[in-house]
Amino acid sequence: MIFEGKQLIGVDIGTSSIKALQLRKSGRGYHLQKYGIEPLPPQSIVDGHVMNHSAVVDGLRKLFKDLRISQKEVALSISGNSVIIKKLNLPLMKREELEEQIQWEAEQHIPFDISEVEIDYNILGSNEEAGQMDVLLVAAKKDEIQDLVEVVKGAKLSPMVVDIDAFVVQNVYELNYGFAANETLALLNIGAEVTTVNIVHAGVSQFTRDISNGGALITEEIQKQLQVSHEEAEAYKAGGLEDSQEVVPREVDEIISSVVDTLAGEIQRSLDFYMATSTYGEIAKIFITGGTSNLPQVRASIERRSRVPVEMLDPFRRVLFDEKQFSPTVLRRQAPQASVCLGLALRKQKERI
Ligand SMILES: Nc1ncnc2c1ncn2[C@@H]1O[C@H](COP(=O)(O)OP(=O)(O)OP(=O)(O)O)[C@@H](O)[C@H]1O
Ligand SMILES: [Mg+2]
Repeated sequence: MIFEGKQLIGVDIGTSSIKALQLRKSGRGYHLQKYGIEPLPPQSIVDGHVMNHSAVVDGLRKLFKDLRISQKEVALSISGNSVIIKKLNLPLMKREELEEQIQWEAEQHIPFDISEVEIDYNILGSNEEAGQMDVLLVAAKKDEIQDLVEVVKGAKLSPMVVDIDAFVVQNVYELNYGFAANETLALLNIGAEVTTVNIVHAGVSQFTRDISNGGALITEEIQKQLQVSHEEAEAYKAGGLEDSQEVVPREVDEIISSVVDTLAGEIQRSLDFYMATSTYGEIAKIFITGGTSNLPQVRASIERRSRVPVEMLDPFRRVLFDEKQFSPTVLRRQAPQASVCLGLALRKQKERI
């Protein structure tokens, strides 16, 4: 028997920062208990690999201490090149048959040695008449999951679940907006190093792609062109340092627009690819989240290229919080970076007995 246990702490170990979030569920819905962001030194995580183990462990410890979270059980997620997601169209078969078949399918579709990946799958739907079924195959590199599990254990926490960023954001969307029966949406999580694209029709993921590009490229370009430090470049990008009289050099806006336009072009290629292979018709709306979605140029650029309305995803739209504990202004500012850890905090500890 499986019974649903307590909510896990959502821990999003991103390339630029660690985010942790705790929810409590009541009859009225989800209540925000804790949420915080702890920046990581540059190069702590490169291409999905933890390069600076102690920086990440220290960051996790500090975040849990500052937020006063004593619970140890956490949910994690991964994204980027270490994850391969493929939609397969297979002849209708029983679950037990699929269990065997999926290994073979994975060998055909996954460009890594099958012994190096964790395989998971999900039946999206079956068509009895056509004798076909759609199956989502997910493969994630074991060594990159292992890297995350090791830092989490190093911080004396217990990883219970490892999810995929793109799907976690989909759960956050569902919680806050709900999926309409016939609508196709694109959900984009634009972070520092990775942009995850997930196209969802009627609540079912149809296409995902992780693009290796994000806000870090903008920071690097500002650093390079204006000969400034990482910190200064980050501050310029976000509109200047708070309480500072220093003006942001006028080149910054041009640099942002140019890098963002390249990113929007890459996103558009994914949307075009989906449109060319799908039978579900137009994408009705694009929702953006992740730290880089804060930049107004991102929304404008994607909208201009795709000709689809773009909106910021509000991860707290249907989440209850105490305004004495969380300032609505601060929470609004930090909302784009909360989506992944909020989605992870929706997960529960499943116990088999
Ligand atoms: N107000 C802001 N204006 C512009 N950029 C911002 C702002 N806030 C955060 N960012 C940028 O967002 C990025 C961080 O976003 P996020 O926390 O979603 O990424 P991450 O999870 O650390 O990285 P990844 O998911 O790519 O591994 C950084 O590049 C940061 O500079
Ligand atoms: Mg991220």
